[in-house]
Amino acid sequence: MNKYNLGGHSGCQIYLMEEDDGRVFVRKISKDKAYNNRLKTQSEKQASFSGNPIKAPKVFNQGYTEDGLFFFDMEYVQGVTLAEYIKTMQIGKVKGLVESLVSSIVPEKSAIISEEQKEIVKDVFNKKISDLREKLYRDNDIVNQALHMLETHDWSKFSHSQCHGDMTLENIIIKDDKMYFIDFLDSFYDSWLLDIGTLLQDIQVMWSYRFQTEVSMNTVLRLIVFRDLLLDEIRKIDTSYVLEIYYALLQKLIRIYPYTKDKYTYNFLNEKTSIILNDIKKLEEQVREDS
Ligand SMILES: Nc1ncnc2c1ncn2[C@@H]1O[C@H](COP(=O)(O)OP(=O)(O)O)[C@@H](O)[C@H]1O
Ligand SMILES: [Mg+2]
Repeated sequence: MNKYNLGGHSGCQIYLMEEDDGRVFVRKISKDKAYNNRLKTQSEKQASFSGNPIKAPKVFNQGYTEDGLFFFDMEYVQGVTLAEYIKTMQIGKVKGLVESLVSSIVPEKSAIISEEQKEIVKDVFNKKISDLREKLYRDNDIVNQALHMLETHDWSKFSHSQCHGDMTLENIIIKDDKMYFIDFLDSFYDSWLLDIGTLLQDIQVMWSYRFQTEVSMNTVLRLIVFRDLLLDEIRKIDTSYVLEIYYALLQKLIRIYPYTKDKYTYNFLNEKTSIILNDIKKLEEQVREDS
């Protein structure tokens, strides 16, 4: 059996394995024992994901290494990540991607949320945000403003649904114009609105590209088209969802602060968070004018 390192961000080991008969598969191994359960949840989320047309690589097998590390084996999708693909793709293809994404993420019909469920959702989010406040610097006006907005927001529109948990452009693989989700993650709450918020972190905030000194105009242009078409599609489902996904993005950005070690990332985050705060204020003004 041959194996080739595929790399990654989480610290887990990811290998392309080639068996003696030439068959290939991908093995993802936990970075340490403490991470075993999260990777197991990832494997289960991936195995049970159902979307149309987007699929997840089939999970073939799971188990523990001799060192007691959890691993799972999955189908190898020989393609490129969406983060890479978007740099050179034909702009006319963006619309098709956006439609596939929306039809695979957004539940068929939006469930009516009972008053009881609304209270549960509010509690979950309020708890998460109050935990966040505990962890955050108190001398940052942008963070304080954001926390205040997150605390006073009514989260009851975040209906429970299937959720990827870490929907970045690097966790989507494209092969023959078809998309596959990889690298699912457990999250404090499962809702597709949170997934779109994470997607906006790349498309609007360009998080995955932050260390690239020069992002080509081609990429920026495609990301803008991607964002605008995505917002259009979301608006078609329900105009009020646009504001909700910006709130999802805001909580996502604020959750990065406690992990920020370097000044460059800290400044980047401040700059972007401040823009999103203004976007939200504008959207809320619009809502007030419309009503
Ligand atoms: N099933 C797969 N088929 C093809 N490539 C894969 C597959 N799983 C992972 N990869 C490649 O390995 C990289 C890292 O995998 P990922 O699961 O996202 O790890 P991490 O948790 O470290 O981000 C991906 O960006 C992708 O390029
Ligand atoms: Mg990944």
